[in-house]
Amino acid sequence: MQKYNPISKAIIQNLEKIVGVQNIFFDQETLNNYGHDETENLNYPPEVLVKPQNTLQVGKIMNLSSQNNIPVTPIGARTGLSGGSLCVSGGIGLSMEKFNKILKIDEDNLQVVVEPGVVTQTLQEEVAKKGLYYAPDPASKGSCFIGGNIAENSGGPRAVKYGVTKDFVLNIEVVLPSGEVINTGANTLKNSTGYNLTQLIVGSEGTLGIVTKATLKLLTLPKYNKLVLVAFNSALDACAAVSSIFKAGIVPSAMEFMDRLAVDFTIKHVDNAKLDMADEVEALLLIEVDGNNNEVLMSDLEKIIQVVEKHNCDQNILFAEDEAQKENLWFIRRRIGEAVKANSIYKEEDTVVPRFELPSLLAGVKTIGAHYGFQTVCYGHAGDGNLHVNIIKGELTYKQWNEELPKAIREIFQLTVDLGGTISGEHGIGYVQKRYMDIPFSKVELDLMRSIKKTFDPKNILNPNKMF
Ligand code: LAC
Ligand code: ZN
Repeated sequence: MQKYNPISKAIIQNLEKIVGVQNIFFDQETLNNYGHDETENLNYPPEVLVKPQNTLQVGKIMNLSSQNNIPVTPIGARTGLSGGSLCVSGGIGLSMEKFNKILKIDEDNLQVVVEPGVVTQTLQEEVAKKGLYYAPDPASKGSCFIGGNIAENSGGPRAVKYGVTKDFVLNIEVVLPSGEVINTGANTLKNSTGYNLTQLIVGSEGTLGIVTKATLKLLTLPKYNKLVLVAFNSALDACAAVSSIFKAGIVPSAMEFMDRLAVDFTIKHVDNAKLDMADEVEALLLIEVDGNNNEVLMSDLEKIIQVVEKHNCDQNILFAEDEAQKENLWFIRRRIGEAVKANSIYKEEDTVVPRFELPSLLAGVKTIGAHYGFQTVCYGHAGDGNLHVNIIKGELTYKQWNEELPKAIREIFQLTVDLGGTISGEHGIGYVQKRYMDIPFSKVELDLMRSIKKTFDPKNILNPNKMF
């Protein structure tokens, strides 16, 4: 591992000159607090936490770090699920929380200019006041930052119709590890001008540069939506229904899969999560359609019902009648991750395959689980072929958990790749999945990525030891 310099008194004095004493933190409680995200129970505190307020300050901090061989890790809202913001090499934790302004809502062009520390739901609510729509909606939308969404290329349920974060990012202001500031593109919907640096930065997990401003695309807010919950006595039938719905010409605005264990966990462990299910039910599909014409939505729902009936769904289909019922169903769906995390030692995987392969993926995961003796809670964005696989420790010994589990995960990932998919759909590689990058990528491919990292960050000071 590369050796870095510790944070000296002189460095602190320089940081104080850049951001002011009030924006530098050393106390153990703060450092611990900023040392974790939502990834398992990992904790890697920075040596010092700094909260810059503008691009110039970020540039100066990067320049100082670059001159002095000090690692810097950008930190957002700490809702990440792959350890991307953990300060695994110590150094400076760069909290972007003071970059919390929506700078401009451009109603003429349907665009918004934001700073990276804006909470995703706040952005959605602010643009909704003007009848506009920012679609990406990760489960953590109430607390995650746009900057983190850009870093991880976050998705969420509505990605199936509207796309993930990358599909909304037009142009980004980025501070490079040297401290220089660049703009990656233009505020246009089309752009065939040079390499696409915008999309290189999106999903780069804070390893190439620090996002300090972004221009995002907006849509107009759809007027209506309808939500149904369909139960299946076979989880494989539920998975198979997914691609048939698209083949019937419907593009739902959400198409979520939850296996029985996922729902049971949530009902058992989350206050106010209630749902009646027959004993035989093995899985649920939560399906939403949205748009501006109610009649079209009704007709879409009818087609969906015809398809799911062909896939042996339970006859009792639940139509959410009002906003409260819709909210209740989404509440259960969004709380699954949290319910598992709070109540079990677990390991979360974020597999994604072409959607027709979903039944093969689910069946394979269950077979691998049976072989190694663990249960899995499976749920996720079925319309995108994106299955979150939460492996539960259960009765496994710590020896099995530490020594056998990585082999099982390798098998799951190999299966995913064999089915034409890959090892993360929306949570990123960060710190915890990097040892599996040889499964989706060859040495040549990985070396190419390493050389890109080197071009941006020749001294390897920005969020080192992540991704590969
Ligand atoms: C979800 C997060 C875990 O879909 O991605 O709930
Ligand atoms: Zn998800």
